[in-house]
Amino acid sequence: MSQADYIKDIARFGLENDREKLLDSLNELIEHSKSTKKVNFALQLQSIIKESLRRQEVSGMTKVGSPSHYQQLQDRETDELILEKLTSDYSLENLVCSDMVRGKLLHFLQEHQSIELLNRYQLPISNKLLLHGPSGCGKTLASYVIAGELKKMMIVVNLGAIVSAKLGETSKNLAKLFRRAATEDCIIFLDEFDSLGKVRDYNQDHGEMKRVVNTILQLFDYLPQSSIAIAATNQKDMLDEAIMRRFDMSIGFPLPSMEKIKELITLTLRNGDFTFDNKAAVSGIIKLAEGLSYYSIQKTLLNTIKRSLFTQEGNSRNLKPKINTTIWRQLVQEEKEALQTTLA
Ligand SMILES: Nc1ncnc2c1ncn2[C@@H]1O[C@H](COP(=O)(O)OP(=O)(O)OP(=O)(O)O)[C@@H](O)[C@H]1O
Ligand SMILES: [Mg+2]
Repeated sequence: MSQADYIKDIARFGLENDREKLLDSLNELIEHSKSTKKVNFALQLQSIIKESLRRQEVSGMTKVGSPSHYQQLQDRETDELILEKLTSDYSLENLVCSDMVRGKLLHFLQEHQSIELLNRYQLPISNKLLLHGPSGCGKTLASYVIAGELKKMMIVVNLGAIVSAKLGETSKNLAKLFRRAATEDCIIFLDEFDSLGKVRDYNQDHGEMKRVVNTILQLFDYLPQSSIAIAATNQKDMLDEAIMRRFDMSIGFPLPSMEKIKELITLTLRNGDFTFDNKAAVSGIIKLAEGLSYYSIQKTLLNTIKRSLFTQEGNSRNLKPKINTTIWRQLVQEEKEALQTTLA
């Protein structure tokens, strides 16, 4: 059947109120979409169905004060914690990293692709991952890669926002959020995980903070095997020993070496649309860029490409644009100086 046939069935069963057949057709369309590489679409459909079934479980019309009204309020509370809910098309090819990091990520992915096998031998599945390292070196990107490779939805939770706002509510809402992620089979991505430690500096009530940390520890301890929690921090030192111990795997994302900067350039220019005006100048710029993050380096390169494009527009419309290495060196230099000022 083609996509159009499924849509015709869905329209017919929907209009005829034949819920069972409607769901069958929707599920067939999901399978069809997965097999035709429309994975994002399939995941979104799947999530719409799950969400709708969950709402229907608490039944029809909402009555204020009824259990269903209560359920909706709860959803709203967890929604507040969610920064973003997303699907991802990223794969390991989009991430520049050392062989060791790649190896660790591959192991993690493999465990989740072989859950049945591991279950058969009652082996535990690693599902708590800590990503650490300086800003702009691929922690968030790595979480997108995991979501993309495992074809799972991901809920991004910003602990920085929650913890400082309403500490008293945080434990309760986190617990709800973990439950929600488990029913919806989502990955939980806890960004700014170090906020848990930082709150102490805000002179907040210590008892409240302890409760939040304890909740996290418990949620981690009882995390269902099929769930995945990923935490990211650029201040690993802020994390308690007790929290660190809970992670099955910890992966560091350091600043790029010259070799990794080269790989980042190749990745950024992979379409082959742009080449350098002066190849000999490139290795000097790479040397100069050492100490900057992947993000900063990529930003300078993309800005250079745009500027080069604008200067060439008009006089050589038909030629492939060349990346102006003089501009690039200048931008890298500025980025380094900005970094030194913040460090000073
Ligand atoms: N290792 C990497 N390989 C390829 N691109 C990268 C890498 N690290 C960063 N980038 C680029 O920089 C962007 C920002 O990186 P990312 O959001 O993953 O940083 P981060 O480590 O999460 O930083 P922060 O601590 O500030 O949240 C990415 O979307 C990507 O374009
Ligand atoms: Mg990040």
